[in-house]
Amino acid sequence: MDAAHMGADLEKVLITEEEIQTRLGELAEQIWADYEGKDLLLVGVLKGAVVVMADLMRALPGTAPMDWMAISSYGSGTKSSGVVRILMDLRTDITDKHVLIVEDIIDSGLTLSWIKTNLESRSPASVEICTLLRKPEVAKVEIPVKYVGFDIPPEFVVGYGLDYDERYRNLRVVGTLAPHVYS
Ligand code: IMP
Ligand code: MG
Repeated sequence: MDAAHMGADLEKVLITEEEIQTRLGELAEQIWADYEGKDLLLVGVLKGAVVVMADLMRALPGTAPMDWMAISSYGSGTKSSGVVRILMDLRTDITDKHVLIVEDIIDSGLTLSWIKTNLESRSPASVEICTLLRKPEVAKVEIPVKYVGFDIPPEFVVGYGLDYDERYRNLRVVGTLAPHVYS
């Protein structure tokens, strides 16, 4: 789905497809250099990270396995509850592995902070975070993020994996929604 297919539902485009691809390419090079010779496992958080993972892993100049977790966070609203529940756990034993969590967005940071702590309790060699988007102004917890695609303003965004009530995940760009969509 392109921005044009959104019609009146789209308020504005924040990040274009090309900007996303360029940035993911840079991050992939950096990640590959940092993890050279290490047992790297990419861990995606469903469902938002699906699109980022697909593009980031293909941008890597080498291969690495991936695994997925599903957790509940927002429900269908636009505010983080901080209540996290594992809906689907990893199938991989991460003992001694270098885990890189791949996320779509860090808003309050509550979700990622919880996941990171949970994974760190399983004796991995390391746990780091790569997120396409970060809203720095609304961070509720201090969470070190090694790789950030873009810092964005504290607005609710959709597209590139991010949804509003399960819609617009397939939008190619990252953008904001017109007010009428929420009412
Ligand atoms: P946090 O716990 O506040 O950091 O929220 C993390 C999760 O909330 C993300 O993985 C998203 O699924 C969702 N989320 C946060 N901000 C947005 C947004 O602007 N648009 C869509 N989903 C969001
Ligand atoms: Mg998500």
